[in-house]
Amino acid sequence: MCGIVGYVGPRQCVELIVGGLRKLEYRGYDSAGIAAIGPAGLKVVRAKGKLQNLVDRLVLEPLSGTTGIGHTRWATHGRPSEENAHPHAYQGVAVVHNGIIENHLQLRAELGAAGHVFSSETDTEIIAHLVAAALAAGALDLLAAVRTALARVRGTYAIAVVAEDRPGEVVAAKNASPLVIGHGQGENFLASDVPAILEHTRRVVYLEEGEVARLTAGRVELFTLAGAPVERAPRTIDWSAVAAEKDGHKHFMHKEIHEQPRAVTDTLRGRISLEQGDVVLDGLTLDEGWVRGLDRLTIVACGTSWHAGLAGRLMIEGLARLPVEVELASEFRNRDPLVGPKVLTLAISQSGETADTLAAVKVARARGSRAFAICNVVGAAIPRECDGGTLFTRAGPEIGVASTKAFTTQLAALFLLAVKLGRLRGTLTLAQARQQLEALRHLPKLMEQVVQAEAAVLPMARRCAAARDVLFLGRGAQYPVALEGALKLKEISYIHAEGYAAGEMKHGPIALIDEQLPVVVLATREPAYEKTLGNMEEVRARGGQVFAVVSEGDVHAASLAQLAITVPETTPLLAPLLTSIPLQFLAYHVADLKGTDVDQPRNLAKSVTVE
Ligand code: AGP
Repeated sequence: MCGIVGYVGPRQCVELIVGGLRKLEYRGYDSAGIAAIGPAGLKVVRAKGKLQNLVDRLVLEPLSGTTGIGHTRWATHGRPSEENAHPHAYQGVAVVHNGIIENHLQLRAELGAAGHVFSSETDTEIIAHLVAAALAAGALDLLAAVRTALARVRGTYAIAVVAEDRPGEVVAAKNASPLVIGHGQGENFLASDVPAILEHTRRVVYLEEGEVARLTAGRVELFTLAGAPVERAPRTIDWSAVAAEKDGHKHFMHKEIHEQPRAVTDTLRGRISLEQGDVVLDGLTLDEGWVRGLDRLTIVACGTSWHAGLAGRLMIEGLARLPVEVELASEFRNRDPLVGPKVLTLAISQSGETADTLAAVKVARARGSRAFAICNVVGAAIPRECDGGTLFTRAGPEIGVASTKAFTTQLAALFLLAVKLGRLRGTLTLAQARQQLEALRHLPKLMEQVVQAEAAVLPMARRCAAARDVLFLGRGAQYPVALEGALKLKEISYIHAEGYAAGEMKHGPIALIDEQLPVVVLATREPAYEKTLGNMEEVRARGGQVFAVVSEGDVHAASLAQLAITVPETTPLLAPLLTSIPLQFLAYHVADLKGTDVDQPRNLAKSVTVE
């Protein structure tokens, strides 16, 4: 999604803002711009395409000033172009915006009739006009003018506004799109995500829904949209600046694949109590009587998080014997779903800002279902919407658009939840729970072995890089891994890939099999393992290329594949945390061989905060 950076203080703002926008590039964008208030008043420079185009433009049209706002835009209204790039300015007011103004056409007509002239196709420009009109009408100050403007607006927004005749001030507001304020020493910062300001300050405040902020060099003030003051102490972010950098890896995604053992270790830290054979789920309120009274658990999620939910269903049904439904949030939210007080809703989201998942939580709660989340971002919208609390994964910032460490930490969190529910529902004895938790505790070490065997993927990557299509097959807990492997490959290498339940191959996809089609089979030892070996035979019999992920020492399964990657043995329910890693490397190396933009694949955004 779009990126916002703002600054007010003693320093020149342009370089600082551009540096912040660079840290937000992963959010996906198609144009960029910056507005600064300096000796020559308010000036705006924008450019289509990558941030470098803006930097090049700034060489030709230098900006100066100590108050400024910048933006990287992911088009929602109006095609990617310089005219549609933010900031949008009108009569000395400039604004940057993330989100969607739903009533922008009606406002545009109204303002047009009052003589306003528009220079873009965007919904955002409306805000600049509304604020300018409020100032012209005698608003007390910029804050009052922004509040007046937003009172007319319907939709979602994170905005930052500056005005030529009010230098030294940035006003911001938030409704359903993230915005964080950074408290500096004699200077203050604003951004849509922490990495943009981390090198300057670790003391941040997240704006809540319907809040407005006024930043000056020496002060940050928070208000409700109605104007009531809000007090909120800054929190300290413990991510190091390096954590959001590439740490020597070629791409963020590569770094994040390698970080998974540490990320899972951090996610488990302090949550496993072996002696009690139990789990401590900080942040979640799950009491025994209520849990025993549940009819089922409904998971709502999108993309990779939905795949994690599919694996989580097997964990929770297997260990806690609680029926689980796994719903695509975009479908669930529009279906008038049958949920109520005896259904527990679980939202899984890395960003915590995915619009469909957030909407699905609201739909579930409106029907009386208690909602909780598994999320990677503290302070995000989905955790704040969940009345049952949030189990935070501790993966650290996931910068690569393709989700990797978020996925495996979600699986670890789901397994913790499955054990907890099993203990609360009496379906797991203390001894059984200890056994499961022991296997879980051992997993990061096994993950590290798989990560270190990265090179084994390269021959498979070279073969897949030449393919037009790739088919991924898996059964049981490996079926979600097949889906996830296909999503990884297609979203970063742009090669069409499909994940399928291995048992379904004979119901259609077998028609695809020929010597051009690589078939990647997840064939680790698990309940339906023999049948999966049969699938490998069927593919070979038709001249297909069989690539497999097999259990260490399984010479037979490896012999059925032209190329095989081995992973250590673990319990079937935990195996996805191991088998997903070679598929992440496969997608990564295919994309790297093809030279696609691994961290910011075309058309994709890191968090889809629009619907
Ligand atoms: C995963 O690689 C994709 N980037 C995408 O499917 C993502 O998982 C999906 O948009 C959900 O995002 P969330 O986990 O932040 O809610």
